[in-house]
Order: sequence, then structure tokens, then C-alpha cells
Amino acid sequence: MAATGVETGRLAIDGGPKAVTEAIPRVLNGPAEIGEAEERNVLDVLRRQSLFRFSVPLEESYVGRLEAGFARKMGTKHALAVSSGTAALVTGLLGIGIDPGDEVIVPGYTYIASAAAILLCNAVPVIAEIDETLTLDPEDVERKITPYTRAIMPVHMRGIPCQMDRILEIARRHNLLVIEDVAQADGASFRGRRLGSLGNVGCFSLQYFKIITTGEGGMVITDDDRVYARAAMAHDSALGFWNRIETGDLEPIPGNGYRMSELAGAVGLAQLDRLDGIIGAMRARKRELLAEIAGAPGLTPAPSADPDGDAGLSLNLLFPDAGQARRYAEALAAEGAPVHTIYNQGIPDRHIYRHWEYVLNKTSLNRAGFPWRGGFYKGNVEYSPDMCPRTLDVLSRTVAVSINQRMTTAHMAQVGAACRKVARAYYGS
Ligand SMILES: Cc1ncc(COP(=O)(O)O)c(C=O)c1O
Repeated sequence: MAATGVETGRLAIDGGPKAVTEAIPRVLNGPAEIGEAEERNVLDVLRRQSLFRFSVPLEESYVGRLEAGFARKMGTKHALAVSSGTAALVTGLLGIGIDPGDEVIVPGYTYIASAAAILLCNAVPVIAEIDETLTLDPEDVERKITPYTRAIMPVHMRGIPCQMDRILEIARRHNLLVIEDVAQADGASFRGRRLGSLGNVGCFSLQYFKIITTGEGGMVITDDDRVYARAAMAHDSALGFWNRIETGDLEPIPGNGYRMSELAGAVGLAQLDRLDGIIGAMRARKRELLAEIAGAPGLTPAPSADPDGDAGLSLNLLFPDAGQARRYAEALAAEGAPVHTIYNQGIPDRHIYRHWEYVLNKTSLNRAGFPWRGGFYKGNVEYSPDMCPRTLDVLSRTVAVSINQRMTTAHMAQVGAACRKVARAYYGS
């Protein structure tokens, strides 16, 4: 791209004019799209006074229709709506039969809820490194496998697909289960298959800050009838007795109170229709921004296992060290671009294992000390703040330029010009 006057001028951080002169929309994906369809559905639930998903036949209820639509969109046989992403993970883990004392490998870069869900099943989180894709490093997964490992939990952070081919191959070779955490990647895909549909079970969040939302909510998807039946019973303490959802010949098992309400289902059904539109717009903007910065000195986009499958939530740039990442991000923010570094020492971000205090300190929910102490666990996992140096290094070197569906091609041109301006100033010609 040829340099414009804007790009060769003084940096805004040094008192020059900003490269970004238009207001860049900073909206939350799902909430920004709430409109007539959500309103109509919610009013319908209220007018019918029908707030409980099982008070009407499954095919008439909003939650039932959301489940059917979600399964169709993700390409799985089953979908089960639940009350949150954390509930989805607990339900998914119980669905695939994770037992107390089992080890589950989880990346050091994910929201603390991924580890909490494992602990709530009295299983043991084993923290593995990410690589420059910002997702689970398959080589470190392999190193972390012990005789007690039962499952791997790849987390598609920031809408970025994990290296699912390599993770599934490792799981097959070691006879491990795979539970995908798709909380931040609703609707994204890996080589043409929707995330969540590749492992034994996929778990989504529909919480307020996610790509589509029901305020609070989640979804569990699977192709496996038995996993679905177990998950369904694990999400509702009496489901196994009622025949509301087909549970085959499985005996009733105890369950949680994780049902989704019809009000959430009403919003979710409308939001599901918007999912591909939101992702399609973000992917288009990301492609434009990548074209804008192609060849700019010093700018290296993070590698990806499937750039076309990425949800497009951010363009992630890798720098040689944390200092350069911070310097670039600060100058770019001063130009008016929506940008931040991912890891700043000192800010307790619960998306980074270093700030998972109750995991690192092995703080138990109970007096016996489960899952680490008290009888079931035979391994000897150890945690420390410095146990995943590569994860901390990669995150400290990464700068994320945020993207949302309300940004336009013109916005991306300005953000791209700002990226090039700062790159030229710091890295050369
Ligand atoms: C990666 C990841 N996993 C799990 C969760 C938990 O989802 P929820 O907040 O809906 O319980 C989140 C939500 O922030 C998340 O980002």
C-alpha cells in the first residue's frame, strides 16, 4: 500500500494528528443486534405466561427450537441448552464421563471458568502451554499426558480455531476424550467444520459478552447419543424420570439445576439467526485489515491453524518482545485505533493461568481437599506462576486490534493506515 500524507506525519503519541478521524464503533457483538425478533419472541413468552421450557412440547418451546436450530447449524445430532458457559462445561464433562481424580489438560490462556468446571467435577486441571496461534500447543499437550489423563480441553480463544487435526490425532493415539470450549468462538470453524462439533462434546457460552447472547446461557453439542443422554440428566436433577428428553436405556443419574429459561431461549432463537451475519461481517473486515497491513515493516500477524475459520474478533500481531508490543499498542491507541496488548504484568486478568489463584494454590471447595487430596487422585500435578513461560511470553508479545460487525471498510482503511503509520515510524521505510 502506498504511503499517504497521514502515514508519514508525526505520531499522535508525539503530538501529531490522529490517523483515525472517524469514530470507530466499539459494540458488543450479540447485544448490538438485539432488535424486533428478540422483542417479539420475549413478549410472546410473557403473553403466554410460558416461562418454563418443559411446560410446552419440545418442538413448540423456544428453548427446544433453539436447541434444534443450534444442532442444525453446528452439524451435530444433539444440542442441549443450559444456563451458562460454565454450566455447559460441567455438563459436557459429566456427559463424557469424566471421573473424580481424572486429569484434564487445559491451556494456560483461557478464562478461569474452564479450569473451574474441571474442579467442579472433582477432576484435576493440568495446565499446558499455548503457542503463537494463542491456542493450545499440541506438543506441550503430548508432554503433559500422564497415566491419569482422561481428556483434553482445547479452547478456541478470541474466536481462533485450535489446531484440531493435531489435537484429535493425539487424543486418538492416547485414547483420550476431547471437550471443546467454544465460549469465545460461537459459529467459527476448523477446515469447514463448526467448532464444537469436532471433539466428543462442544461447550458454548451465550453470556452477554459473547458473539451471540441470551444474557446468560450456554449450549452443549454432541453427536453421541450416550453423551447427550448423560449431559441432559446432568443438567436437570429429575430429567431422567420424566421422559422429556430421550435418555435411551440409561438409568437416571443425579443432575444440577442448569435448565435454560424460555425467556433466554426466546432471545437465543432470534440471535442464532444473526450468528452467520455477525461472523461474516467480522471476517470480511479482518481480511480487509490484513490487506491494509500486508508488507508493513515490523508487523507479523499471528499464525493460524485455519485463517478462514477464524471468527474475525481481532487481528493479532506478534512482536519480538513485550516492550515493543507495548510501545506499538500505545502509539496505535493514540492514533485512535481499537487496540490493546493481551498480557500486562501486574493486571490480574483471569484469562491467564498466572491469575488463577485457587488453582495455583490448590484451594479446595471441601475440607477433604478434592480433587488434589482426599483419595481419588493418584497423580501429582504441581502448579506455579512461572510454569508456562512460553504462554506468558507469547501473550506479552501480542497486540490485538479489535474488530466488530459494525465496523465498515472505511473504518478498516483508517485503522490500517494507523497501523502502517506507527509501523513506519518504529520499523523503517
Ligand atoms: C473461554 C471461556 N470459557 C468459559 C467461559 C464461561 O462462560 P460463562 O461466563 O457463560 O459461564 C467463558 C466466559 O467468559 C470463556 O471465555
